[in-house]
Amino acid sequence: MLVNDLLKVIVSVTDTSLAEQFQAAVGNSNGFDIIDALQGQRPDLLIIELGDVPEDDFTRIEELLGEGKVKEIFLCAQNSDPAILMRTMRAGVKEFFPLPLDLNEVQNALTRFKGRVEKTALPAGEKNGRIISVGGSKGGVGTTTVAVNLAVACAESDSKPSVALLDMNTLFGEIPLFLEISPKFHWGEITKNISRLDESFLMNVLTPHASGVHVLPSPAYLNGHHSPTPDIMQRLLDLMRRVFDVVIIDAGQSMSDASLKGLQLSDMVLLISILSLPCLSNTSKLLRSYIDLGYVKRERIKVVLNRYMKKSEISLSDAEAGISQPVFWTIPNDYKASMEAINSGKPLSQLAPRSEIARSFAQMAEKLMPSRETESKKRWSLFRR
Ligand SMILES: Nc1ncnc2c1ncn2[C@@H]1O[C@H](COP(=O)(O)OP(=O)(O)OP(=O)(O)O)[C@@H](O)[C@H]1O
Ligand SMILES: [Mg+2]
Repeated sequence: MLVNDLLKVIVSVTDTSLAEQFQAAVGNSNGFDIIDALQGQRPDLLIIELGDVPEDDFTRIEELLGEGKVKEIFLCAQNSDPAILMRTMRAGVKEFFPLPLDLNEVQNALTRFKGRVEKTALPAGEKNGRIISVGGSKGGVGTTTVAVNLAVACAESDSKPSVALLDMNTLFGEIPLFLEISPKFHWGEITKNISRLDESFLMNVLTPHASGVHVLPSPAYLNGHHSPTPDIMQRLLDLMRRVFDVVIIDAGQSMSDASLKGLQLSDMVLLISILSLPCLSNTSKLLRSYIDLGYVKRERIKVVLNRYMKKSEISLSDAEAGISQPVFWTIPNDYKASMEAINSGKPLSQLAPRSEIARSFAQMAEKLMPSRETESKKRWSLFRR
């Protein structure tokens, strides 16, 4: 959200006269733009009416707010029992309107909403990118394969976001090999020149790949450069999320303070695991440690099963029971394609575009950054009865 942008509003109530009243209130307030749910844009504010099965609506509201798909939701309802009001508050709804509607109340609420947004807005021209860390629950489970191919798949996804890929594997960073690039600079350049860090310095240090992904590799050999500190990590990621739509971090198995800071600042952490007992046991321990130590909120950490085969000795549900949370995504086992991709320095979408594994990465990227059209159809129309 940038200062000076109009705030987009979707009014999703079935009653025509009620919808018109909301539209009039929005129209009479400065700084708002009503958009159609089917237009394919993500709204800042969604105005809805509580339906016949309130709990279903509250669950959807929590999902939309929890996933950051909309900044705020205004709710109106015939029923304003204390129990409904309590549930409304718990769902994270900031403004509630009993019916019949008081238009002044709606306009006051819109002004309050605008004030809340302006407090957190970025100066014009800046983004608010998503940081996704990819960590391994064991060595060799495919963390770099996932980080690299997910970054490329994101760059190639419908909304064509700008993507950066950052390597936290000190010394053994392999991203340049996976993408056949010869970076001039690496992390050392950032740590050495942290006081000079701004957008143009950053863009000079990053190496672009043909897919559009901009890479910050780790050093190729130990040459006495300073390792990143949590403070440097924070400054770098703060800048990167203003410059890029998506920042993907290959966190490997690094437990350095800077890597932990990276996890803390991530919007999502993908923990890569495979269907083996030692790996699932590590996954479980890591989940608990990250969450208990307060590095990552429970809802932000997702388990991705790599090298997945349906006919495995350990079933998906066994794995889910073992780690006490659902598996977010499975990536099929394809040794040939993944090995050829690494050895030829090509992403899977280029080496084997039609393979199941390349499609899996494309679909995961779409899930992580849904295209505008799919998002509108799936999300906003949920409230159209
Ligand atoms: N889905 C997959 N199916 C089959 N093989 C895979 C898959 N993903 C990765 N591999 C293979 O696993 C090996 C390790 O992959 P990768 O280097 O990505 O793992 P890593 O976890 O980053 O390893 P490290 O701990 O060394 O950093 C590679 O040979 C790769 O080809
Ligand atoms: Mg690796």
